[in-house]
Parts: sequence; C-alpha cells; structure tokens
Amino acid sequence: MSEQDLFPVPREWAEKARVDAAKYEQLYGRALADPGSFWLEQAKRLDWIKRPEIAGDWSFREQDFRIQWFADGKLNVSVNCVDRHLKDKADSVAILWEPDSPDEAPRSYTYRQLHEEVCRFANVLKGAGAKKGDRVTIYLPMIPEAAFALLACARIGAIHSVVFGGFSPEALAGRITDCDSTLVVTADEGRRGGKKVPLKANVDEALRHCTSVRKVVVVKATDGTVAMNAQRDIWYHDAAADVTADCPPEPMGAEDPLFILYTSGSTGKPKGVLHSTGGYLLWASLTHELYFDYRPGQIYWCAADIGWVTGHSYIVYGPLANGATTLMYEGLPNWPTPSRIWQVADRHNVEILYTAPTALRALMKEGDDYVKSTSRKSLKLLGTVGEPINPEAWRWYHEIVGEGRCPIVDTWWQTETGAAMIAPMPGAIDLKPGSATKPMFGIEPQLVDGDGRILDGATEGNLVIARSWPGQMRTVWGDHQRFFQTYFTTYPGKYFTGDGCRRDEDGYYWITGRVDDVINVSGHRMGTAEVESALVLHPQVAEAAVVGMPHDIKGQGIYAYVTLNANCAASEELRAELKQWVRTEIGPIATPDAIQFAPGLPKTRSGKIMRRILRKIAEGEVSSLGDTSTLADPSVVDDLVANRVG
Ligand code: WT7
Repeated sequence: MSEQDLFPVPREWAEKARVDAAKYEQLYGRALADPGSFWLEQAKRLDWIKRPEIAGDWSFREQDFRIQWFADGKLNVSVNCVDRHLKDKADSVAILWEPDSPDEAPRSYTYRQLHEEVCRFANVLKGAGAKKGDRVTIYLPMIPEAAFALLACARIGAIHSVVFGGFSPEALAGRITDCDSTLVVTADEGRRGGKKVPLKANVDEALRHCTSVRKVVVVKATDGTVAMNAQRDIWYHDAAADVTADCPPEPMGAEDPLFILYTSGSTGKPKGVLHSTGGYLLWASLTHELYFDYRPGQIYWCAADIGWVTGHSYIVYGPLANGATTLMYEGLPNWPTPSRIWQVADRHNVEILYTAPTALRALMKEGDDYVKSTSRKSLKLLGTVGEPINPEAWRWYHEIVGEGRCPIVDTWWQTETGAAMIAPMPGAIDLKPGSATKPMFGIEPQLVDGDGRILDGATEGNLVIARSWPGQMRTVWGDHQRFFQTYFTTYPGKYFTGDGCRRDEDGYYWITGRVDDVINVSGHRMGTAEVESALVLHPQVAEAAVVGMPHDIKGQGIYAYVTLNANCAASEELRAELKQWVRTEIGPIATPDAIQFAPGLPKTRSGKIMRRILRKIAEGEVSSLGDTSTLADPSVVDDLVANRVG
C-alpha cells in the first residue's frame, strides 16, 4: 500500500456538506484575510450575555505578549451547553451513558434532566464553599456525574482541574497543590474492565500532603465501603437532597478561566494548561460540528476519558454546546470482549465514533471476526486522535470497521490547542491514510528548520502555528513566564507545537511525532523527565535516562536506562520493583516497558546525556549511532549495545 492512496470525498458527502471543497477554500482564505469579521461572525454560534465587539487581540512577541479573544464579551458556558437547548431540545437526550458491564442497563439524561442535575450539582459545590475563581479538582470515573461536575463548575465560575482516575495519589496531590484547590470531587470507587479503582482512598492518601483542600464531595458510584472524614467529606447524594435544582448562572468574561488541565512537557513537573471561557467554547463547538458533520438527532460517541482534553472538548463541551447526544462509556474498548466497542455502537445506533489509533491497533490484533460479528450499520463517520495513525490501522478502520463507507477524520491537536487544528472536513477534503490533511479556518501552520527559517512547498520540518486562534491555551497556571518560555521562544513570534511534520505536494500535513523529550504512549503524553524523576527517587537508583521505543500497540513504549548506586546489584527482582515504583509514583500509564541497567550513560565532556544515542539503542538501530567521538567515555556505548533489552 502506498502513501499516495487518495480517498476522494464521496459524492453524497460533497452534496450534503456544510462545507464542500470550494467553501473550505473560501472560508479558509477569509479567516486569514479578515480574522476580525470572520471570528465575530463565528462567535454568533454561542449565546452571549454581552456579545463581543472585538475578536482576537494578541501578540506572540515578548515585548507585548498577550492572547485574548472576544475580551469584551460575557457568557456562561453551562448556559450554552444546557439552558439554551431547553427551548427546542428539552426532551432530546443530552447524555447517554453506557456502564462498564454490558449486563447493566444504560442510563440517559435529556437536556431538561441535565439542567436539573447541573444546577443541583452547582448548588452542592456552592454549599461546600466553592466560589467564582476557586479551583475544584475533579477525580471521577466515567460516570454522568463527571459531566455534571464540569458543567456545575462552569455554572458558578469555579475553575475545574480534572485529574485522570488512573493517576496515583502522589500525582493527584501534586496537581491539587499546584493550583491550590479548595475542593475535591471524587467517587467511592471507579470501575473499568470489571476492576475497581479506589478513588476515595487515593484522595485520602493524596490529601495527607495537601493543605489547601477544605471539602471533599463524594459521589456514590459502586457503593463500596470508604472512610468518611466527618469534618471534611460530604456524600453527594446527601448534599443534593438538601439543595434546589435552581442555580442562576454566573456571568463570566470571555477571558475568565474555564479549566486547568495538567499535561507533561519536556522538562519539569506537569504544566497546568489554562483554557478560557469564550474562545475555548467557540473552538470546541465549531470543530465538533464541522469535523464530525454533526446533525441534530445523531448519536455521537467520543470514546476517550474525561481526564484528558479529548474528553473535555469532545465528550462534554463541544457536543453539548451543539445540542448533540453524547455517549459516555464507563469501561474499556476491549472488555469483556474485543467486540465491546462495536457492540456499544450497535446498541446505541452510534453514527459518529471517535477513538484512538492505539485502541484500533489493539483490536485489530484480535482479528476481524470480533468486528464482523457486529452490525455497525449505524456508523457514518469515524474519527481518530492522539498520535499519528499508521496507514495499516487507518485502512483497517476504513475497510473492516466502516466497510468503506465512512470517512476517517484524523484530527491533529494538543491539550494546548483546546480542540482540533488540522483534520479533514469530511465533505471537503480528500483523504490520505496517515495524514491529518488540512488546517482549520484561522490556523496558519508553518514548517521551520532548526534556525526558524520558514520552509516552503513539499518539505519536512518543525510544526509551528504562526498566529493565535480562539481555543489557544492562555497561560500555564501560576507561571506565565513558563508559558512564554515553553511555546514562544524556540521560534520567536510563533507558537511551537513540539511536533515534527511533513507537508506533501498537495499541501497535506503529515505529523511525524514529537521532536522534544515528550513521548506518546497509547496517545497519552509522558514527559521523559517525569519518569526519570520518579526513578531517581528510588533509594538504589543513582541516575536514569528515559526515551521512547517503538511499540506495536502503544505506538511508543517507555525505555529506561538506570544506573544503580555503588554496592547495589542489578536483578530481575529490582527491575520488577522499579516498574512497580514508577506505577505507584505516577500511575500505570507511566510504567516502563523496558529497563536496562547501565553502568554508565553516554555523556558529553560537559556532562550532557546524549539522548540521540539512547534513542537509537532503544529502537534497535545500533548500526547507525552516528558520531560518538565527542563522548567523555565512548566505551559506555559498547556496554549499552551489548546489554540492550528486548
Ligand atoms: C500530541 C498532543 C489531542 C488530544 C489527545 C492528545 C500527538 C495528537 C495526533 C494526530 C498525529 C497526534 C502530537 C501532539 N497527536 N493527535 N491526529 N496525528 N499526532 O493530546 O496529550 O496534548 O498530546 O499528541 O504529538 O503534539 P496531548
């Protein structure tokens, strides 16, 4: 199969499209030529308390660095996602919930019911002391209350910070402390793939290290036994029984923060990515409508977790702002059978499905029968996100899952970008397997070389975005300097994505992966520095260096080189212990796939670890290590090659 394969827009898609090829070109051009009027017009898709008169006001230069969109506008996100649909969609389903176990009954909430749940939840948060601007950490499983909690924060103007339920108590504590959350919302336990996750116990453990939290609201999800601290902990169902379902929305400035979401970078601790109210919601809603061609009445399913930005933008904010029916699934795509994802799609007549390449590869490996034994007749469009999709997985998704009739919408974006940035609008853009294709309106991608020179035509380079867009992150919580430093200093005047990218002769973008010390494990971002910090906390570890390695299912796996302290001996037991150690420190997603005990690491004479060499060895490319003569001790390389793991 060749990368040159082209899947033209099917005629019926072009005909019914909101945006066809000609309109895409026209709107793309207009958004760049006249951004002010273009974005003020797009802003009409939201309900404003005060409609904005200015669109973007921004500069990526140090002397006047600022990013603002619709700054004079006022709105409330929960009103846009709930209340405004009450006039014509009160009885349509807003949230459709599929439980972990297929033997349990699904639940659904109409917009009217969602309104009541959100208001009640908001009143419980207020009762627990939350006010506009306060930070609320949400550590919940994939239950409807997670969506209620996000929208309840938005209703009262509290800033939510969702922490993925798979993170450890240590990771949770770090994220609570960084933003000084005063309130935590959790559940007794979570369930995933038939296993229980002790969420409340993890919160108890985390809070031994946190001083900012005053109250913990606990949702009863499994009826598991948990310890309750009478001064601090509140059962949600008790508190909800004492409040009304009437909660006036807080009027918010468009630039007021909506949420913080922590993500790994190439250095230091995870960064609290901060998103705004107006620009973010506009971006989530516009991209949801155009990329998924969402039509009223359709059942739409984004199979991500609410703990990641995909869940924020494409389970909650984008679809609900558009009055969609969004399916929320508690469990895993392959449990209790590799057919589960398709069974859920059949059960609910899902028309639009959005998932990740890693899930597709895992399911593909199980064989086609698990797919073919299901109907999938309802499916009309298939989306993917999280990492470059390999053409084999793309083709399998297209041919086997979608039986050739569903466009594959490969969406490139990042936690920082708020929502999708480069992806094919299904009625406008011919598809090429493995390419995220073309930019969204207003997005000006550029490829630059290491010195920041703009590369034209068909070429490969570092991906930067040359101008601001409404959904762009506004700051790193508590560290505006780090925000500027991380994204705007490598190539002054431009936003640096951290990704490498190729552009072909048709102007299609092909993301090639991270060019910094971030690795992408199963579509989740992991900073190598974070795993290294966890490893060196172990009493027997002197030094650690972590790089990515190719992995069939995960895309990238975690390969750790570990130097032990003098008098400590390498052993299989220690290897297992170190893997468990990282799991406990960060969470299961950070578990190293391979640990190589290394007596020494390849360093330059100034002491800098040459990661290029470590990457090559982890990849098994030992014959192309390049120049090693500048190393302080070139002989360490021979040992590393000889003792490669895997
Ligand atoms: C990084 C962002 C976007 C939500 C999920 C991940 C990689 C993401 C694609 C894609 C190629 C992709 C990039 C990016 N990535 N989507 N469709 N094709 N690469 O969000 O954790 O912030 O990670 O994921 O490397 O920089 P994230």
